[in-house]
Amino acid sequence: MKKKQDIPFTFGVNIPDATLDKYDNHIIRTLSSMQGQYFDTESYEAMLLEDDQVLYEVFEIKRPEIAGELLTGLSVVHPGKVGDEFFMTKGHFHTVLETAEVYYCLQGEGYMVMETPEGDWAVEELRPGRVLYVPPRWAHRSVNSSADEDLVTFFVYPGHAGHDYGTIEEQGFRNLVVEKNGRSKIIDNPRWRHQEERK
Ligand code: F6R
Ligand code: ZN
Repeated sequence: MKKKQDIPFTFGVNIPDATLDKYDNHIIRTLSSMQGQYFDTESYEAMLLEDDQVLYEVFEIKRPEIAGELLTGLSVVHPGKVGDEFFMTKGHFHTVLETAEVYYCLQGEGYMVMETPEGDWAVEELRPGRVLYVPPRWAHRSVNSSADEDLVTFFVYPGHAGHDYGTIEEQGFRNLVVEKNGRSKIIDNPRWRHQEERK
């Protein structure tokens, strides 16, 4: 039997409202899915009692999750803070560590917090029109540092990459992005330890 041929397709990234005009999957992450991720656990628990609010959303274009394919979509992190720490994504390594990702910032302001299993770290600014290349091996988390605007990024990554959330769930990233005197500040995560010391 002849294999069904894939057909090229287009979709719109609407400007200026930074939305996709079509998508196959909509993921909504609320505060309760970030258990243990925010440093100020007291503020976290207090906020959760009030409301399990939506922190970020992902709109995905579905493709087979295999090598050769590219997965694309939009990530929208809403503005807000838990204690002094800005709203952010869970963050992950790719299960296939040797896979990269490209982010194109469409709206808002924030940071991509990144690190490798060896303990190297980097924090890059995200603002409209900037492209961020996340090389293979770098875990990544987007942080919205705006007081009132969504942070919207378009992403592209290999179909077989997969997501490893577990490593980050254990102790978070090496860096936290907090608000200090009305400005965003990158500080060390006191809970973070080098991989060798964790065993
Ligand atoms: C895919 C990727 C993004 C994120 C999205 C949500 O590899 O990096 O699409 O999945 O920004 O973040 P997480 O997956 O960390 O909850
Ligand atoms: Zn990723």
